[in-house]
Amino acid sequence: MTVYMKKIAIYPGTFDPLTLGHVDIIKRASALFDEIIIAVATSERKKPLFDTQTRVQFCVDSLIDVRGIRAALLDGLLVEFAHIYQAHFIIRGVRTTEDLNYELANASMNRQLSDRALETVFFPSDEKYTHVSATMVREIITLGGDASLFVPDKIAHYIKTHMR
Ligand code: COA
Repeated sequence: MTVYMKKIAIYPGTFDPLTLGHVDIIKRASALFDEIIIAVATSERKKPLFDTQTRVQFCVDSLIDVRGIRAALLDGLLVEFAHIYQAHFIIRGVRTTEDLNYELANASMNRQLSDRALETVFFPSDEKYTHVSATMVREIITLGGDASLFVPDKIAHYIKTHMR
C-alpha cells in the first residue's frame, strides 16, 4: 500500500510588507506543494514598519485566491515552526548571488538544527522582481511615494487609506 504524504512547505520571512516578488515565488511554489504556510517573522531586530498582525493579514488578503496557502506568526526557531506544521520543506526566493550565499548558510544551519528531514528549496526570482526589496518599498511609503507597482493591490489600498 502506498501512503501519500502531503507535501507541506514553510515560506518564512519578515514580509514588511509582502511584495509582488514574494507573491510570484508563492504562486510558483504552490504548483509543487500541497500546502504552503507563510511564516511571518516578528523580526523585532529589524524594527518593522508594519506590526506583525498587519503583515499576517496582508498575506491572507493578498493570497486568498491561491490554493493551499496559510499564514501564521513566527516568533521562535524556524525548525520548531516547521515541526509544528509537519513541514519538511522551506522555500526561499533567490534574487542575486549575494542572496544565494546567505541562503546556503541558512539552509545548512536549519538542516543541522532539525531532528527530521528539512530541505530548503530555492526559487530564482523572476527577472521582473530581481530589484524589488521590502526595504525599497518601505522607503517609498515613508517618503510618501506610490508603492503600488511593487505590492499586491490590497496592500497598495491599505497604504493609500492608512498611511497618508
Ligand atoms: N522578492 C522580493 N524581495 C525578496 C525576495 C523576493 N523573491 N526574497 C527576499 N526578499 C527580500 C525581503 O523582502 C527582505 O527585504 P528587506 O531586507 O529589504 O526588508 C530581504 O529580502 C530578506 O529578508 P527576509 O525575507 O525577512 O528574510 P531574512 O533574511 O530577514 O530572514 C527569516 C528572515 C524569518 C527567514 C529568518 O530570520 C528566520 O528563519 N528566523 C527564525 C529564527 C531562526 O530560526 N533563526 C535561525 C535561522 S538559521
